[in-house]
Amino acid sequence: FFEPSTRTRLSFEAAIQNLGASVIGFADANVSSTKKGETLSDTIRVVSRYADIIVMRHYIEGAARLASEVSNKPIINAGDGANQHPTQTLLDLYTIKKAFGRIDGLTIGLLGDLKYGRTVHSLALALSLFEDIKLAFISPEMLAMPEHIKDSIKSKVRFSEHTELSEVIAKLDVLYVTRIQKERFPDPVDYEKVKSAYIVDKEAIKDAKPELKIMHPLPRVNELSYELDSTEHALYFEQARNGIPVREALLVLLKDVRKW
Ligand code: NCD
Repeated sequence: FFEPSTRTRLSFEAAIQNLGASVIGFADANVSSTKKGETLSDTIRVVSRYADIIVMRHYIEGAARLASEVSNKPIINAGDGANQHPTQTLLDLYTIKKAFGRIDGLTIGLLGDLKYGRTVHSLALALSLFEDIKLAFISPEMLAMPEHIKDSIKSKVRFSEHTELSEVIAKLDVLYVTRIQKERFPDPVDYEKVKSAYIVDKEAIKDAKPELKIMHPLPRVNELSYELDSTEHALYFEQARNGIPVREALLVLLKDVRKW
């Protein structure tokens, strides 16, 4: 892990241990030879000779793909910069399926930092594969869903774009809230402008369907009020817990894979 992580790393480690396997690795690249100037490719060449599966989080977009080109063992992308976070999406889909019994036909709002938030990129791409999904992208203009994601999904799924949650809240089955990704802003002044763009609290969801479920990949900063935690809408801690069975399943699927 070349970037901070709580849920992803610990739920992978719990999943690995539950399966009777063991973990080697680092949670802080500053204690690895990266600090001495070793390239990512060389680190991966070596670790792929020590481990059967590599779970990697990195701050550079495309780092997992690069790693997969030099590794003969499976690389699981645990988040690459602002690009994607596919295992988060697997647990998000599992959480939605468990809550509603289906994914097809739902109306799902993705709110917050849709530009730098990797979870919403992977989730939008995955949801576009289901039937009759409607997506609502709610963000400040500066943090809109990237064009390349919209291009990839536009022939498969209906989506709309909004700056105000109030425009769509009444239609949503799921509201997926995300943190403004402070660490990815090139200019801190821009972060200051949008850091409190949304506060999802009881007032903000007063027109929602009673069945609305609120999700969040966590960590939250100020965008999701604690007052919602005790409501029937809150699904985010169950969502975090679902990281364990979903990652166990993924590890089992990959355990015998050798690329060359
Ligand atoms: C997310 C991430 O790292 O992209 N966290 C997670 O894995 N659950 C979301 C975030 O950091 O905002």
